[in-house]
Amino acid sequence: MASVKKRLFTGLQPSGTLHIGNYFGALKPFADLYESYDSMLMVADYHALTSAPKPEELRQNIINVVKDYLAAGVDPAKTVIFQQSQVHEHTELAWIFECLVPVAYLELAHAYKDKVAKGLKANAGLFNYPMLMAADILLYDTDIVPVGQDQKQHVEYAREAAAKFNIAYGETFIEPKDKILEGVGVVPGTDGQKMSKSYKNTIPLFGTKDEIAKAVMGIVTDSSGELPKNVYAIHRLFRSEAELASLYDSHKGNYKALKEALIEDIEALVAPMCAKRDSLDDRDVKRVLDDGSEKARAMAESKMKLVREKIGITL
Ligand code: ADP
Ligand code: TRP
Repeated sequence: MASVKKRLFTGLQPSGTLHIGNYFGALKPFADLYESYDSMLMVADYHALTSAPKPEELRQNIINVVKDYLAAGVDPAKTVIFQQSQVHEHTELAWIFECLVPVAYLELAHAYKDKVAKGLKANAGLFNYPMLMAADILLYDTDIVPVGQDQKQHVEYAREAAAKFNIAYGETFIEPKDKILEGVGVVPGTDGQKMSKSYKNTIPLFGTKDEIAKAVMGIVTDSSGELPKNVYAIHRLFRSEAELASLYDSHKGNYKALKEALIEDIEALVAPMCAKRDSLDDRDVKRVLDDGSEKARAMAESKMKLVREKIGITL
């Protein structure tokens, strides 16, 4: 019998070293979900170009993001892992969508709008970003797109691109749904704000024990209360409230002991993932990506054949 699983598609920006916020907010929810679907995981290297990375860094980050997901438990035999730039149909379809949507509509997209609001100059790639993302999603007849809250608006753009195309040229694309990854909501950083590499308040996911200890010891604690709330908020990701209640009760006021307990808990999660990550070399990753890109290309080519016929360029 043919597969009845729904298609799940998501994209990852190859943007550097991960922190535990990324793990609980993106990697773990994906790893928990993907096997129930016919799933695809794309490294969005062309999206990354909108922030002008150095070539050597981009090359390494493409490899690294795949290692991160494999280390977090994603099995390449059970999902198609591929590189956006290796399937040329993505940029081709993006162009077609760009010709269907008004400039005023793209001006409302967060990635672009926020940059302009900060007085920064956006490049045309950032402006068109939602249409490339729409192409990523729609090329594969995607049903659901698991993303963080910050990407919800972009999935809306993909739905709009599908609708616009279907109206202009006849039913061709499925309008995808988002599925917000909200296993834990927002993971707080060492200062209590959202953990983010731009705030320098992170605990590294693939850090050594020393690096983790240094970050945890740096968690800001307020000496007035009995419960160090920033420590607790992170600890809550690793243990139940009941477990934490007795731990925090027995170490009341002893912030150092509580931080040491948190270091142990983080280390127990991270150590096996680091070992798995260290066991992968760049060639293993390259093979995974080549294999996945070949599969994705075959799917994208057949969809684009139909699209080219519909828009009237196939002679
Ligand atoms: P950063 O804020 O460090 O730059 P990114 O924007 O690169 O992180 O996020 C990559 C993924 O990790 C996204 O899916 C995002 O929703 C998730 N993520 C990032 N920070 C957190 C956090 N503090 N809590 C939960 N999820 C997060
Ligand atoms: N824009 C997404 C991000 O910054 C990455 C991405 C690119 C994506 N294409 C996608 C996510 C398609 C979901 C589906 O995180």
